[in-house]
Order: sequence, then structure tokens, then C-alpha cells
Amino acid sequence: MDIKELKLKTVDDAVTEIKDGMIVGIGTGSTIELLLPKIAALLNDGTQITGVCTSNKTALIAKELGIKIVDVNDVDYIDVAIDGADEFDSDLNLIKGGGGALFREKVIDDMAERFVVIADETKFVDYLGQTFKLPVEVDKFNWLLVSKKITKDTQAVVSRRNVEDIPFVTDNGNYILDVELLPHTNPYEMHEYLIHLTGVLETGYFLDVTDRVIVGTKEGVKILDKE
Ligand code: A5P
Repeated sequence: MDIKELKLKTVDDAVTEIKDGMIVGIGTGSTIELLLPKIAALLNDGTQITGVCTSNKTALIAKELGIKIVDVNDVDYIDVAIDGADEFDSDLNLIKGGGGALFREKVIDDMAERFVVIADETKFVDYLGQTFKLPVEVDKFNWLLVSKKITKDTQAVVSRRNVEDIPFVTDNGNYILDVELLPHTNPYEMHEYLIHLTGVLETGYFLDVTDRVIVGTKEGVKILDKE
């Protein structure tokens, strides 16, 4: 069974989180792109929802599917946000930002009354950073200085994200640094260190914010809820 099939298994459960009249935070990535047609199908049944998107790409696809999308500044609350993840652990803590949308994801996922993650079972890890580098969004102005400082202070290897040899630029006009965390790095301490560096906008750690992870496994769907 390939990864896409595992991701696809999560979307039926995810869409049941959405009820008529809700304001829904819609995440970014290939798993969310599988969910979007399911959300659009709700509209055919008469369900009315308003979406707030975590990236320009998601907003574009959602609008093409006929989903009403508004700017985050036009809403005071979000009922439920549904998003993917690059890693999740047994405490439902996450690393996100593989798609470079981590800042907007953090704004919208944090704001939501309920935050639900959809992911395939390969994303489950013993500790954050086990399989995925930590994305950190940084200003273009001093990105290299920030990168060198992180390595000097933490010994972590840091690289600027490129796509086909061209620096990746976020929807906010910034760069992404991918930080190769040392094994068992404490996520709370690392986030606290990084977030105070001048030039860092946000980190890809999502700690203590997830209410549910819907996991696509070879055996079926597994639901992990916050204790
Ligand atoms: C986007 O910036 C990320 O946080 C995504 O949510 C994450 O990379 C999951 O992506 P996939 O659904 O493509 O695996």
C-alpha cells in the first residue's frame, strides 16, 4: 500500500469534524489536498462553511472547488482547523512546515477551538526530529547569520531550503531554514531558543495544541486523542 492510499484513509473521518455553519481552518500539503474535494462535497449536501486557509496554494484549490474562503483577519474565531503534519509523537506534538507554510499554519491552528491532524502512519516518531528536519521561517535579510548562530549554539546542521537550486520563498516572502536536530533535542527548549533569535518568524514545532490525530495505517484508521 502506498503512502497516498494511507493518507486517503484519513479524509472520511476528518470531514465528519466539519458541521454546518462552521468556520474551518484548512491546512496545507498533499494530505489536505485529498481532503479538499470531500469538504467541497459537503456543500452539495447544503452544508455551509467558511474556510480560512494556511497557504495561497490551498486557498487557490479551495476556491476552484467552490469553497468560500475569507482572510484570517476577517474572522474572530475558528471552530475547527484540520491540517497535515511531518511528524507526530505519542503526546500529539508535531513538526510541521514541510510545505513551508508553518507560520500561517501556526496562526490558524492555534486560533482554532479544535485542532485535528491527518497523517499517515509513517509520520509517527519516538521523538520529534527523528526523521524530519525542523523547518524555521527566517527573514531574508540576516538568514545566513541566523543559520550560523544556530549551528554555533546548538551544534545542529542547518541548511537553507532550496527547490531545484533556487531558494524556497514562503507566502510571507521569507526563507526556510531546515535544522537537523540532534537526537532527543528537547522541543520546548529548542523552540524557546529559536523563537527569540532576531530574524526568526516562527518554528515548525507545534506543541500542546493538537486535539486529535487521525492516522491512516495499513490496518485502517486509528484515532489518537489528547488525554
Ligand atoms: C506544510 O507546511 C506542512 O506543515 C504540511 O502540513 C506537512 O508537510 C504535511 O504534508 P503532507 O500532507 O504533504 O505530507
